Amino acid sequence: MEAKLKQLQSIAKEEILSANSSEDLERVRVKYLGKKGELTEVLRGMGALSSEERPLIGKIANEVRAAIEDHLQQARTTIKNKELELKLESEAIDVTMPGKKVPLGKKHPLIQGMDELKEIFISMGFRVAEGPEVETVYYNFDALNAAPNHPSRDMSDTFYINDDVILRTQTSPVQVRVMEKIKPPIRIISPGRCFRNDTPDATHSPMFHQLEGLVVDKGITLADLKGTLEVFAKRFLGEDTKTKFRPHNFPFTEPSAEMDVTCFKCGSKGCGFCKGSGWIELLGAGMVHPNVLRNCGIDPEVYSGFAFGMGIDRLVMSKYNVDDIRLFFENDMRFLNQF
Ligand code: PHE
Repeated sequence: MEAKLKQLQSIAKEEILSANSSEDLERVRVKYLGKKGELTEVLRGMGALSSEERPLIGKIANEVRAAIEDHLQQARTTIKNKELELKLESEAIDVTMPGKKVPLGKKHPLIQGMDELKEIFISMGFRVAEGPEVETVYYNFDALNAAPNHPSRDMSDTFYINDDVILRTQTSPVQVRVMEKIKPPIRIISPGRCFRNDTPDATHSPMFHQLEGLVVDKGITLADLKGTLEVFAKRFLGEDTKTKFRPHNFPFTEPSAEMDVTCFKCGSKGCGFCKGSGWIELLGAGMVHPNVLRNCGIDPEVYSGFAFGMGIDRLVMSKYNVDDIRLFFENDMRFLNQF
C-alpha cells in the first residue's frame, strides 16, 4: 500500500507539471484529491489493514496529500504568471503600427454660404436671432399683416399641422418674435429653414433656407435700407456689383421692393444665367408695415424700420454653379466633397 501511495504521488506530480492552464490543474486536483479521487480510493482500502499498519500508512497518506497540495500550489503560481504574461502580450498596443485614418468632415455648402452671409451682417452690427421651424399661423401670417384670404395661406402652398400650426413658409415670423421681446433699437438677422408645399424640381425644394434681416429704430428710412443692402451686395458678390430696386408687394412691408444685382456671371453683359437681361433678382425688402409694428407693441409714430429676406439655397447655387437644388439634400459625398 505504501508503494501504491508513493506511485500515486509521483504520477500526480508529473501530471501537475504538465498542466498548461488553471483548468487543467483543477482537473488534476479533482482527479487525485477530490471526494471520488484516487487518493481517497486508496485510503478506503485501509480498513483491511492491521491496527499496527494503519497509523503508519495513515501518516504516509497524509504526507502524500500534503506533497500533492504543495505541487499544486507551486504549479498554480507558475500558471497564473504565465497566463498573465500571455494576456498582457495579446492586449499590448503596438505604438509603431500605422494608425487608422479618421476621415474629416466639413461644413455643408449651404452652411458655408450661410456662414458667409452671417459674417457680413455681423460685421455691420447685426445679431443673429432664431425662431421655431414649426410655427403658428399667428406669427407666420396674422401678425405679419397677411390678409385672411392671402394666397400664401392656401393648403397648396403651406404645410399645415393643424388649423393654427404650420411649418413656417418664411423666416419673417422671427421679426415678430424679436419685436415682441426686444424694444428698439433692433438690428437682427435670422437664417434658417423654411417649408413650402412645392413639388421638388431643379429649382424648388419643399424645404429651403432663408435669411431674414430686421432693423427698427427712430428715424430709419428707405435710404438706410438701400445703403445696407448695397454694402451687403458688394461684399458678397464683389465691389463692382450694382443694385436696382423694383417696386413689389409684401403684406408686412410698405413700401416693398425686390432688389436686383448686376449679373455676377457675365458682369451684366447678358448671359444664359441672367437670361440676357444683365440683372439677377436677389431678395425681397421694404419698410416694416405700421400694422406689424403695432402688432408687436411698437409705436409706428415713434419708430420705423426696414426688413429684407433672401433665399440662401439659390444664392449658393448661383455662386457655385449648382444647377439642381435637390443635390444639396441628397447627401451624395461625390457632390459634397467638391466644396
Ligand atoms: N418673407 C419674404 C418672402 O419669403 C421676403 C421678405 C422678407 C420680404 C422681409 C420683405 C421683407 O418672400
